[in-house]
Amino acid sequence: MGMTIAVDGPAAAGKGTISRALALHFGFGHLDTGLLYRATAARVLGGDDPEVAARDLGPADLERRDLREAAVAAKASEVAAIPAVRASLLQFQRDFARRGSGAVLDGRDIGTVICPDAEVKLFVIAAPEIRARRRFDELVAGGETTDYETVLADVRARDARDMGRADAPMRPANDAVEIDTSDLSIDEAVARAVGIVENART
Ligand code: CDP
Repeated sequence: MGMTIAVDGPAAAGKGTISRALALHFGFGHLDTGLLYRATAARVLGGDDPEVAARDLGPADLERRDLREAAVAAKASEVAAIPAVRASLLQFQRDFARRGSGAVLDGRDIGTVICPDAEVKLFVIAAPEIRARRRFDELVAGGETTDYETVLADVRARDARDMGRADAPMRPANDAVEIDTSDLSIDEAVARAVGIVENART
């Protein structure tokens, strides 16, 4: 029987990197739940109604090449505050979490709402300035033209919106283990996460 690992935290804290590495290490599936909200947002930017976009999401929507763009991220945190959007995306995430081999899901509300029974819950954080620097580097590497101050302002605005919404706000579950990646290399952060999961398995 596989286990479920919930990895939550704010933008660019290192959730995705840690989650992919955990999935690889333990042979589990990985779902980046932010992609569901980004794909919904991309359709809304194209003129769709948010509820309809979330309900009708298909595999092709998740493969769009624009999902990592800053405008899509900003819109994602707006549509993510709409309860009907969250409700439409819930069952898919729960089904993924209970796949036989085990699953890692990363997002904002995995440990609190989607998988409150997850065997391991991590809450990954880092200082906003460090997260903004990482996200700036990613966006520039992806070909976007932007500046650090704009990215920092976007990160702060999105944090506030994700923490402040009424439905499934971003917060650590009571039994989550925090990993602060501000001063950790990727290898150190991954090693810490692997250690926490190994402890929980024994
Ligand atoms: O990669 P990054 O952390 O910047 O963003 P993401 O994980 O792709 O999520 C984009 C937006 O989707 C977030 O700012 C949240 O508003 C929303 N989201 C959410 O509400 N719940 C989740 N489980 C995942 C993402």
